Amino acid sequence: MDAFELNKIAGAVLFALLILFGAKTATNLIFKVHKPEKPGYEVEIVEAESGGKAGEAKEEVPLAVLLAEADAGKGERVAKKCAACHTFDKGGANKIGPNLYGVMGRDLGTIDGFAYSGALKGKGGSWGYDELNEFITNPKGFIKGTKMAFAGVKNTKQRADLILYMRGQNDSPPPLPEAKAKEAAAPEKAPEPAAKEATAPEKKH
Ligand code: HEC
Repeated sequence: MDAFELNKIAGAVLFALLILFGAKTATNLIFKVHKPEKPGYEVEIVEAESGGKAGEAKEEVPLAVLLAEADAGKGERVAKKCAACHTFDKGGANKIGPNLYGVMGRDLGTIDGFAYSGALKGKGGSWGYDELNEFITNPKGFIKGTKMAFAGVKNTKQRADLILYMRGQNDSPPPLPEAKAKEAAAPEKAPEPAAKEATAPEKKH
């Protein structure tokens, strides 16, 4: 056996050892990396949930402002929730609930030939914007004992869309609430002075 051959053997042994240890540390690494998985994710989910809830329904936007931004076309779609029991067209039939054409501004419970509950009849008053809004939000909250078996439309925007649509189903709907006129008029007046300024530089010629 010469020195060269000895070197070869030693090299082979070293190489084998390297592979052995290498494989061992590699498996160690894999297992260690896999272990500490849990904590991060759980925290994230909790935060996302509480954040979502806090963002909802915090600010109360006045109905007048909501109606100014409402979309009667979308409201017509929301009205499908009511269609099982109500018609909205002029001369429409009473179903499980009374026909709702012209309900806005009408006294409560005054459709001929519909058997209202004593609770609704006894409530008194007429259907203004606020009354309708409250009733549609939570029927049984507004009229305890009403026989309208409907949970309510909880989404504020959908409700405003619906009320605007219902306002349109009317020969002479009551005027929209005050704030609407003010809010809507303001931005329309603003651009006028700007238009005058734009024509001013013509004098240069
Ligand atoms: C499951 C059937 C049902 C659904 C769905 C329903 N209603 Fe009614 N609604 C009734 C009944 C029944 C009454 C009569 C209540 C009473 O006499 O207490 C009524 C009464 C009303 C009245 C009072 C009418 C009047 O002449 O005084 C309004 C306004 C009204 N509903 C609006 C709605 C709107 C808007 C929706 C949809 C968002 C809706 N309802 C969904 C059954 C229903």
